[in-house]
Amino acid sequence: MSDFFTMEPGEVAAPVPDGPVLCTGTAAMRRIHRVFLWSYDEAPGLARSAAAGDTERSRYVGEVLANIDKVLHVHHEGEDQLMYPQLRERAPACALHVDQMLAQHAEVKTMLDQIAPIRERWTATADPAVGEELAQHYERLSARLKVHLRREVTEVMPAVDRVLTNEEFEQLAAHGFDQFEKKVVIAYLGMILAANPIEDQREFFKEAPAFARVAYRLVGKRMYRKQYATLFPGRPIPDTI
Ligand SMILES: [Fe+2]
Repeated sequence: MSDFFTMEPGEVAAPVPDGPVLCTGTAAMRRIHRVFLWSYDEAPGLARSAAAGDTERSRYVGEVLANIDKVLHVHHEGEDQLMYPQLRERAPACALHVDQMLAQHAEVKTMLDQIAPIRERWTATADPAVGEELAQHYERLSARLKVHLRREVTEVMPAVDRVLTNEEFEQLAAHGFDQFEKKVVIAYLGMILAANPIEDQREFFKEAPAFARVAYRLVGKRMYRKQYATLFPGRPIPDTI
């Protein structure tokens, strides 16, 4: 099976600065990007999964989609503040790539801004026509992300590994968790883990805040299994650590 994170013909990686590898950002970025790849593969189907007028389901699913959209937005926001300015300053030869990635982030932000009111309308009404419109927006976002999330890993992260320290990269990861209420982190940790193979789940788990690791063992894993079964009735629930 070929790795999703593989450069395509004509794509060129940013020049990697001299010097040692300072952080394991590439590996961490692959793990979080797998969560978005999975989420936006599923989002269109979820937006089509409520019967007309079934607002109990549209409210449940709409809240999950809103949280995923926020995780994506916060992820890009963190990189815009804590990764790309540093890369530009410390590796000026990467400037073209930085501009390109920031432009892709802006494009995704525009798409998320367009999605929000449609998602809210569908959440409140379970109107199938609105759900279909929402699903089509998610299909376009998913297609866009399949390019951006791949190219950030293949073209940019090898350079980032040589300019950001592990401590700085940890701050970036922490930014992602800090923007959410603790109960949301606990409830979603299982789904985040499930998008990765088991060995990556172990690494991912280490990056989660301590409160979330403890709560995941106590209640979070059960919450994940219940949430998965509600979102995807009848499907086997993917294993998590
Ligand atoms: Fe990223």
